[in-house]
Amino acid sequence: MKANGWKPAPVRGRGPIRHPFLLIAGALATACSSASSAGPTGDGSNRGDATGPEAGGGQLTDSSASSIDGPSGDDGPSADDGPGQAGADGRAAVGAQNVNSYDGARPTTVLFDASWKFHLGDATGAQATTFDDSSWTSVDVPHDWSISLPFNQGSAAGAGGGYIDGGVGWYRKTFTLPSSSQGQRVFIQFDGAYMDSIVWMNGTQICARPYGYISYECDFTSVASFGGSNVLAVRLNNQVPSSRWYSGSGIQRHVWLKTANPVRVAYTGTRVTTPAITASSATVNVMTTVQNDGASAQSVTVASSILDASGGQVARGSATPTTIAAGSMSDVTQTLTVTTPRIWSLSSPTMYSVITTVSVSGAVVDTYTTLFGIRSFAFDANTGFSLNGQSLKLHGTCNHNDLGALGSVVHSRALEKRLQMLKSMGVNALRTSHNPPPPELLTIADTMGFLVMDEAFDTWDQSKVQFDYARFFNKWSTTDISDMVARDRNHPSVIIWSIGNEISDNGNHTIAQSLISAVKKQDDTRPITQAFAVANPDTGTAQLEDIIGDNYFPWTYDNQHSSHPTWKLFASESSSAVRSRGVYKLPVTQNILTSSDNQCSSYDNSWPSWGNSSESSWQSVDSRGFIAGEFIWTGFDYIGEPTPYGWPSKSSYFGAIDTAGFPKDIFYFYQSRWNHDGPTMVHIVPMDWTSWMAGQQVPVWAYSNADSVELFLNGQSLGAKMVDANPSHSGSAHLEWTVPFATGTLQAKATKNGMVVATDAVQTAGPPAALALKPDRTTIMADGNDLSYVEVDVVDAKGFLTPQASNTIAFSVAGPGAIAGVDNGNPISHESYQGAMRSAFSGKALVIVRSTLVPGTITLRATSGSLTAASVDIATSP
Ligand code: GAL
Repeated sequence: MKANGWKPAPVRGRGPIRHPFLLIAGALATACSSASSAGPTGDGSNRGDATGPEAGGGQLTDSSASSIDGPSGDDGPSADDGPGQAGADGRAAVGAQNVNSYDGARPTTVLFDASWKFHLGDATGAQATTFDDSSWTSVDVPHDWSISLPFNQGSAAGAGGGYIDGGVGWYRKTFTLPSSSQGQRVFIQFDGAYMDSIVWMNGTQICARPYGYISYECDFTSVASFGGSNVLAVRLNNQVPSSRWYSGSGIQRHVWLKTANPVRVAYTGTRVTTPAITASSATVNVMTTVQNDGASAQSVTVASSILDASGGQVARGSATPTTIAAGSMSDVTQTLTVTTPRIWSLSSPTMYSVITTVSVSGAVVDTYTTLFGIRSFAFDANTGFSLNGQSLKLHGTCNHNDLGALGSVVHSRALEKRLQMLKSMGVNALRTSHNPPPPELLTIADTMGFLVMDEAFDTWDQSKVQFDYARFFNKWSTTDISDMVARDRNHPSVIIWSIGNEISDNGNHTIAQSLISAVKKQDDTRPITQAFAVANPDTGTAQLEDIIGDNYFPWTYDNQHSSHPTWKLFASESSSAVRSRGVYKLPVTQNILTSSDNQCSSYDNSWPSWGNSSESSWQSVDSRGFIAGEFIWTGFDYIGEPTPYGWPSKSSYFGAIDTAGFPKDIFYFYQSRWNHDGPTMVHIVPMDWTSWMAGQQVPVWAYSNADSVELFLNGQSLGAKMVDANPSHSGSAHLEWTVPFATGTLQAKATKNGMVVATDAVQTAGPPAALALKPDRTTIMADGNDLSYVEVDVVDAKGFLTPQASNTIAFSVAGPGAIAGVDNGNPISHESYQGAMRSAFSGKALVIVRSTLVPGTITLRATSGSLTAASVDIATSP
């Protein structure tokens, strides 16, 4: 048994204004095409023609939007043209990130990320308009102050929090509201501020919201100065430990300034469902909540048009006028029909949008865009999951919120890159463990074709760590979960609502029932679950759930199925095997959990007491039709929870991909099984054919989805082995040879129908001699936000990766760019993610380069003592 349940835009109006849907659609179209171009490339210079997850694929580019309301170049806000967008360092967040995709994409909503002042620590009276913040640091948000702090063994955040402190932080922003906004309602919308935020405008408190992962809006109309200066102040308090993992601290997600008519679509006020779908037509129900904040009752007409992905209108309807009393809200329901609908699926994730207009006396007072997809799905107690009538095993990963070296700030390109990697690994489902995700994640999941288990909480009213959400649960949980569901309910990617993970008070029916009711009130089209920590959820709240999430204990699946034949089961969390990239420990037949070097083994032979190897956990799920699928713990390594170690380890070992985004061997295991019908591949374990002793018996594994694999050492065949077509019922999902070590080249050739269709090779490397830089993209947008991820390899004189190299590498950038973060994926490295140097780990390091607003050429240079230095050019285009 697992001990104790858990372990320790329209912004500037300088150009023609395009319809907001086209802004979103443009971004989505680009994301879709880039996603489909994602595919394998080599992952190391000594790996011959190996397959890997990176394609140099496209990105969620910003072109559609930047051409509309691109950077102004202004220094700051002005009364004439609305809030300034130029950042403190001259960068501005534009483009796809410039569209508020979840609350209507109104033309009058502007990104409010630029030109904030920040102070770490408390500051008496800093909410006052007159407070002098001139000595504070200039920052743009999203911002995570913790990611720049040193690792600190004494930090109260502890191992779970990655030994990084939190604390109190203040943000202030001074801006001018145009006088033309007089008579409108004005709001600040936070997509997420970690945590315990209090928000003041012009000295008056307008909001407070403890949960750091929830999105919320603050109405400040009554204290706004129209045509004058306004001061927004935000105090955050991340008293650690506030979570079991690294949360980051700060305004970590986007902020928006919204201006809307007093009569308007309410916050997250649309609900689009598709109750009947056939090949010839789809019924689309659109429910719109209209709010009247005006002084008198109004007769309101709501009209909705449905646009297809290219912006063409495919349906339209106008509801009969409704009278809404002053200070009230009213729901207006419309039913529309889309003929010959294009169905949203994983391979063809087609989106539609509803453009809702609210009119008073014949004049349109609000225009609101909602993206949605037309799809159906079902869970079945015997046959598992199906999407659009077709059976589908959920091949999911659990993922935490941080983005490695970038900390917990949301970043669309970083998210998209992660999802591209997961897609090429064969992942089709994501679990937002254990909190509401940034809204961008769902938009990208919609457009790339992922299914999502959207999770609200890691705790209810009983805490897991001292200062976690349990402190706020009784007062805030209904509001938080309702807001989460209302925000996310129109995404076709979302298929499951989770009301909690491994809740210790799992028998509390009152709480479970009240959360379930809150969810159902906002959306009744998706099943509700909990991720249960105990093997048999019989005694808890399982019977209240629509589907049952089992965390671990695969040996209980059969009993649960036979004792509760109506239960719809899935593995909400599985495996928890641990490994360090490029580290191998023998014997492979033994579970080697800990070692004196604080690293874990990559032969799938390292897992904690409550977990399983990846292979056995996959077999348990794959061989049972009644288990809808699994969400492995985890897709990516994350900061904190360095199980099975403590200090000096500070980041996790669970990922199939490390924090730097480099795949571990197990990535290819999943690629071979989950992507069984995907591109043919073969991968050799170990990735190191250098650090063994002459004659040592080395276990060599191959992961492949071909028919057979033949292994060669220096051209000599070591025999061919058949890939077991159905290894979930017997046999093994990997091929295995024992090879006496000899220097040279170990090569695997995979064949299908007798033809060699994929190869992989590892070579013995000489001493480190040079650096090699491999950017994922050599052209990025000059939008102040776009990223190029540059892999840095320490290579020998022949250019082969030196698999144990740990040389310290210094980076410098010339031209219009900056270093956004550095990493190497080593869980025990204490080098700063925000520095300009990094040691290699297992031969590799990562530097993330960010553009500025200036088009040109960024030159990244990497040096390391006597090694031959390297540089690479990255073009930034307007
Ligand atoms: C689970 C828990 C996760 C993580 C994981 C590590 O029980 O839900 O949050 O802690 O264990 O194995």
